[in-house]
Amino acid sequence: MIQLGVNIDHIATLRQARDTIEPDPVRAAIMAELGGADGITVHLREDRRHIQERDVRLLRQTIQTKLNLEMALYEEIVNFALEIKPDIVCIVPEKREEITTEGGLDAVQNQRDLQKTIERLKNGGIRVSVFVDPLPEQISAVKECGAEWIELHTGAYSQSFSSLNPFSQELHALMKAAQYAHSLGLRVNAGHGLDYQNVWPICALPHLEELNIGHSIISRSVFTGLKQAVREMKDLLIKYGGQTHDH
Ligand code: PXP
Repeated sequence: MIQLGVNIDHIATLRQARDTIEPDPVRAAIMAELGGADGITVHLREDRRHIQERDVRLLRQTIQTKLNLEMALYEEIVNFALEIKPDIVCIVPEKREEITTEGGLDAVQNQRDLQKTIERLKNGGIRVSVFVDPLPEQISAVKECGAEWIELHTGAYSQSFSSLNPFSQELHALMKAAQYAHSLGLRVNAGHGLDYQNVWPICALPHLEELNIGHSIISRSVFTGLKQAVREMKDLLIKYGGQTHDH
């Protein structure tokens, strides 16, 4: 069965927008696990725009499934990962000006750094995945760097998805990439931009173990939960409305 890793960065984005304590991603992780998540994914970015160290520390103590920490090749964050020991680290590229992770890591260009970091993480008892575009040269480079997992970037597939033509070139590239990664002995995860419409063709990727999905799940939860949230506030107004306060 394909495992579901739920990315809860957006919960932290909402919290940071008000610089307050809610919504708490730690609570979101518990809810996601209750919903059946097989793992919780968070990206600790260099600019700390959403997830904070505090979140990762508490998640490490509270989640019952597994913690997947996404991070770029920054010394400071590698050291943090070695201290916290997530179950798995996914190495991603990071640009300050981007809204979300735009492309896969260039494993060819970053091969030396990648190799050193993967070795350090593995020596620290952490499993390592690398997020790359579905290109054979990238997959070969990940293998040479010593990672055990690959996460295939499904962003191009998601962006070009049409329910009229679900079997796109981009899907074909992912199929071939998954097959190739497996033939090299890599384990295969995938994610980015997947939603309730475009996920089904991806479920047929050969050797796929896990999908990491964030935006679409958090977006949907707003609408599955909004009616009740309004109702609860309305009930308070009904209960307390018209009361006078005598001081
Ligand atoms: N996988 C990786 C490596 C990511 O960087 C992200 C986005 O943070 C995701 C999966 C999830 O993408 P989305 O939020 O579009 O579902």
